[in-house]
Amino acid sequence: MTLKELPIESIDDSDRFRQNYPNLHLLAEDIKVNGLIQPIVVSPKKDESGYLLIAGGRRLRAMKYLEWETAPCLVTDDPVEELELREKELAENIQREDMSFTERALLTKRIHELQIAKHGEARPGVGGGHSIDQTAEFMDQSRSQTHRLLTIADFIEKDPEAFSNVQNQKEALALIQKARKSLEAKKNAARIAQKKAETPIDLLRQQVIHSYIIEDFFKGIKDTPDESVDFIEVDPPYGIDLQAVRKSDGFKSQYAEKDYNEIPAQHYPAFLAKVIEECYRVLKRNRWMIFWTAQEPWFEVVYKAISQRFSTTRVVGVWYKERSAMQTLNPRLRLPNAYEMFFYANKGQPEIYEQHPNVFPFQSVPPQQKYHPTERPIELMDQLIRTFTKPGDRVLVPFLGSGVTLLSAFRLDRTGFGFDLTESFKNHFIQRVPLIIKPSKADQFKGE
Ligand SMILES: C[S@@+](CC[C@H](N)C(=O)[O-])C[C@H]1O[C@@H](n2cnc3c(N)ncnc32)[C@H](O)[C@@H]1O
Repeated sequence: MTLKELPIESIDDSDRFRQNYPNLHLLAEDIKVNGLIQPIVVSPKKDESGYLLIAGGRRLRAMKYLEWETAPCLVTDDPVEELELREKELAENIQREDMSFTERALLTKRIHELQIAKHGEARPGVGGGHSIDQTAEFMDQSRSQTHRLLTIADFIEKDPEAFSNVQNQKEALALIQKARKSLEAKKNAARIAQKKAETPIDLLRQQVIHSYIIEDFFKGIKDTPDESVDFIEVDPPYGIDLQAVRKSDGFKSQYAEKDYNEIPAQHYPAFLAKVIEECYRVLKRNRWMIFWTAQEPWFEVVYKAISQRFSTTRVVGVWYKERSAMQTLNPRLRLPNAYEMFFYANKGQPEIYEQHPNVFPFQSVPPQQKYHPTERPIELMDQLIRTFTKPGDRVLVPFLGSGVTLLSAFRLDRTGFGFDLTESFKNHFIQRVPLIIKPSKADQFKGE
């Protein structure tokens, strides 16, 4: 190696894994006062277009920060192959405490791939080649951790945007598990939806699948004639940042924000007015609408919007989340919230079909079984359907989410339809159709 003073702009560090250098100004200050004590190491590029940085990424960034034009460099005699370069970079980085898990995952993958490119892939029983065990040894980490990092790196490379907000390995693995579940649901949904309908129960299941419409409610509802539905269950987006609220409640949301279609707070009152207008138009006379809302911050706004058209009172219906795990981040000041509420509003003079107190105690869906962040338990929906509708009624659900309201309606001999914007929610819904829409006892007897 030779010591040379090289123009900084001829040194390429763009392909290095490490991209964030915290507290760079401190090192820059030190270099400014004491000079660069340890030169950086570079290697001539094969195409002679400049130099590749091999060691000293932080020092190089500090010199750039100081706007130096040249840097003292130790130059290797020959171009360094990529594998060697990565190995050196890794050796430099491996002990770093601030190396992010994303950097580590990508570096592990690149090393693994380069070793395979050089030695071929190890095949069980054949001998030779490079294996995950060897990468694990090289990285000084366990085989299972290496395996996890390789999986994470695969996913990051396929969808870097999805991982851009992920802070640690646990979150990355949760996201991967969710992606896998979605993919599995997509495959299952395609299989179920394509099944030829040969029996009455198949036909009914097809009808249920088609009742979940992927479309904007405001567009889709235009085709629905005036006064043509018997009951409406509105569980709208809440006009709040659900993820932020969940976090402040002590819950870490497992859902990517992009799946959940929220309405910005400043548009919420206009959104509510539009929803209520359309619901009033399509609901028959002497029928019910229920409308979920949170106490904060929209209770009065929702109440007034509903009252523009329907009759309702502030004495709401309450879903008490019986025996459900509750947390609050601030137990000294706040009791954990254990309920959700809905207005029940009438157009004309409907009747309540099955008497029930206005508190509905039902356990929430356990988080590991949830497909949708605000999914209601089907038993709760069954009770609400029985309370406000009769068999044969047609139910509208403007904002379907998991679609549990439709599953409940169909299994209780009502029909219905509704809308959502997110395909993955529908895939999960389709998966549940054969599990929930079962042949009646009489049909089973006939040989269904
Ligand atoms: C509160 S969730 C409904 C949850 C549902 N009650 C359940 O039990 O699963 C509201 C849903 O409305 C959907 N959404 C938001 N804007 C929409 C629109 N303009 N048209 C149709 N669906 C919409 C969201 O994707 C979200 O899934």
